[in-house]
Amino acid sequence: GKGNFRHFMLKEIYEQPAVIGDTLQRYVNPLARTIEMPALPFDFATLPRLTIVACGTAYLAGMVAKYWFEQIARVPVELDIASEFRYREAPLPPGGAALVISQSGETIDTLAALRYARSQGQKILSVLNVPESTIARESDLVLPTLAGPEIGVASTKAFTTQLTVLACLAISAARARGVIDHKREGELSQALLEVPARAAEVLNHDESIRRIAYDIAEARDVLFLGRGTSYPIALEGALKLKEISYIHAEGYAAGEMKHGPIALIDENVPVVVVAPSDELFEKTASNLQEVIARGGRVIFLSDRKGAKKLGGKAAITVALPEVDSFVAPILHAIPVQLLAYHAAVAKGTDVDQPRNLAKSVTVE
Ligand code: F6R
Repeated sequence: GKGNFRHFMLKEIYEQPAVIGDTLQRYVNPLARTIEMPALPFDFATLPRLTIVACGTAYLAGMVAKYWFEQIARVPVELDIASEFRYREAPLPPGGAALVISQSGETIDTLAALRYARSQGQKILSVLNVPESTIARESDLVLPTLAGPEIGVASTKAFTTQLTVLACLAISAARARGVIDHKREGELSQALLEVPARAAEVLNHDESIRRIAYDIAEARDVLFLGRGTSYPIALEGALKLKEISYIHAEGYAAGEMKHGPIALIDENVPVVVVAPSDELFEKTASNLQEVIARGGRVIFLSDRKGAKKLGGKAAITVALPEVDSFVAPILHAIPVQLLAYHAAVAKGTDVDQPRNLAKSVTVE
């Protein structure tokens, strides 16, 4: 049941500290502060390329993972949405592997992408929330997310637990490739172990995000901007908002604004900027200034350090706890979920069962 929550979606958002913790328990040794993965069907040390395929929110988890695999493990990654990948006839390298991400394990395009990758000799690794699913049966190895059943059509806790598993996998890939030392693995593992507590702190911002969402609910269009791993989080914010509130939203890489979309900016378009204080903060900050200079109303999602630097400039600032920038996308997923949720409630839409959507997409 929904317990004390008005909707399954809200309940599932609030379950995230606990289910991220359950997932970490499976893949992180908290005493040694090391990652513990089951034996993989391929060796990351010699892997020529990892091909990541998925749909929707699971695809956006894959996009965050692409940044992680490339940056910390130096693994070449190709990423595509399954409905394109399955028909592209992409050449895949001998000895390569495909990483398939799905909450349900039943998404037909994702399954077809898996079958194509296998036909090209790839080993199949999947990250799934339903371990007795069709995709599970056709995989060489399943890495489960321990989110528990997800009832709300909009994916929330499945997404953040996917990110959790993928972060662990990227660290173990970095170790296999010899590009991370024991000390850094310990720091990253520690940062992951602290995510449940930090996520609980993020949920304390629920009330202030609800007030921001009233504002968003009035808008016809909303933009979400981010760079690096915050770019897929911006895309996820836009997807969630469209899906459950029916407000038109677009996610953009912040640096792409001046190549077209900045023409949309005026006082009627709220712009949500996702910018933890990481290596790219100053770059995103200058994009934020450009938006403000054109009359845009910025909702700035950052951490306390970022808020101190820039908070006064934005119309509204949400200051989350400071964390290692590696885990920041997991935490920043939560305020964009809450924004979409409260905007949908304010508009009176059917949050758990949005129109035209099914929880499990088993037809093309
Ligand atoms: C968005 C959402 C969808 C799913 C997509 C893939 O909130 O839930 O975009 O992420 O349909 O579904 P799975 O993960 O079951 O393959």
